[in-house]
Amino acid sequence: ATEQDLAGRHVVISAGGTREPLDPVRYLGNRSSGKQGYALARTAVARGARVTLVAGNTELPDPAGVDVIPVGTAHRLREEMVKAAADADAVVMAAAVADFRPAVYASGKIKKVEGQDPEPIALVRNPDILAELSAERAHPGQLVVGFAAETDDVLANGRAKLARKGCDLLVVNEVGEHKAFGSAENEAVILAADGTETPVPYGPKETLADTVWDLVAPRLAETRR
Ligand code: C5P
Repeated sequence: ATEQDLAGRHVVISAGGTREPLDPVRYLGNRSSGKQGYALARTAVARGARVTLVAGNTELPDPAGVDVIPVGTAHRLREEMVKAAADADAVVMAAAVADFRPAVYASGKIKKVEGQDPEPIALVRNPDILAELSAERAHPGQLVVGFAAETDDVLANGRAKLARKGCDLLVVNEVGEHKAFGSAENEAVILAADGTETPVPYGPKETLADTVWDLVAPRLAETRR
């Protein structure tokens, strides 16, 4: 799909993992590589979109022609997504947002004390950015896409999550050894709020990204440009 079906559209994508600091030198993180979000950014540019990429931790180079906004924490990712979404036609949450963050941030490095057990780490919940972006859309026609990684009851859990989050499309990945996290390949089912299911066979993350845009573009066609 090299047609310019996203020409004149602004799409905002989050990618990579967030890092939640414990102290100046330590954080809680996850294994997200950012590859799927970056593939979404590259394919959207190829289809004519203006692309804003809010990037958590990743080793990937900035894609050409993309406005990249680096962030560390879920809190910062939320701030930048809400700001960029204000003028977006579509918003895609491909980032692996930490569900929890340490309840306290120690401004000095946490030290080990001889003969003493370490303090347990208390966690608090992070805001659900996808649910918030879905509930508080910048304009009625704005499209919101989420991702979900599931290990069992993939479809049932995916359907329930789509409803709970309130987004228009949910890309449901089955997490496996050569799929999803860190891998260049992915296999997924894309669930739509209108009831349709689009299976995407095992293959490059670019193919999955293009299938997402194949579903997004016609849904945007009904809204003003
Ligand atoms: O609830 P779960 O983490 O499985 O949902 C995954 C989806 O929700 C992804 O699109 C992810 O970017 C988004 N998410 C979020 N804020 C969170 C946790 C997940 O936006 N705190």
